[in-house]
Amino acid sequence: MATDNRPFRFQVLAVERRIPESDRVLTRRLSALRGYFFDQVAYEALLAAGDVVVYEVHELRRPEESGELLSGLSIVYPGLVGEEYFMTMGHFHKARQTAEIYLCLSGRGALVMENEQGDSLVEELTPGRGVYVAPGWAHRSVNLDLSQPLVTFFVYPGHAGHDYATIGEAGFRKLVLRRGGSTVIVDNPRRIECPTGVRT
Ligand code: NI
Repeated sequence: MATDNRPFRFQVLAVERRIPESDRVLTRRLSALRGYFFDQVAYEALLAAGDVVVYEVHELRRPEESGELLSGLSIVYPGLVGEEYFMTMGHFHKARQTAEIYLCLSGRGALVMENEQGDSLVEELTPGRGVYVAPGWAHRSVNLDLSQPLVTFFVYPGHAGHDYATIGEAGFRKLVLRRGGSTVIVDNPRRIECPTGVRT
């Protein structure tokens, strides 16, 4: 990790799907995503066939403090669990009032977002398209292309932190599914609603 306070350069290799200067790669396999996919029977069947990599995050590490920016490459591999596309766990930022930018470099996907006031939003990601995730919105990347990975570059404030538990327990309000050969967005029947900000 570059910790001295000097500018530095890096390369984002979208085709090779890596950042040579990245010094940490987070790999999330199917086994780490138990409970995240809607169809649990399909999940167990797929997992029994092999613990495949669902997504990777290549980080450009910096001190996790205000004033810094954390960035990297997110790669969501193609696949389905039942009708549900491969996706990231999704999270709020611990420091809720912090935003994030996602820029799609290759592939085709969606950014599923929601806030604690009850709003939901799904934005399509195509090469060159960016999404500004406003402060207070949970976000998850979904790969809508079954033939290639979804590759995005992200940047967020150093002090943001990750809160996986809130959205992990409740589930997102919207699911992105492949149904009859096309992509549909449906309400999540397993969504657990909690009073805003109050969790037990
Ligand atoms: Ni984030």
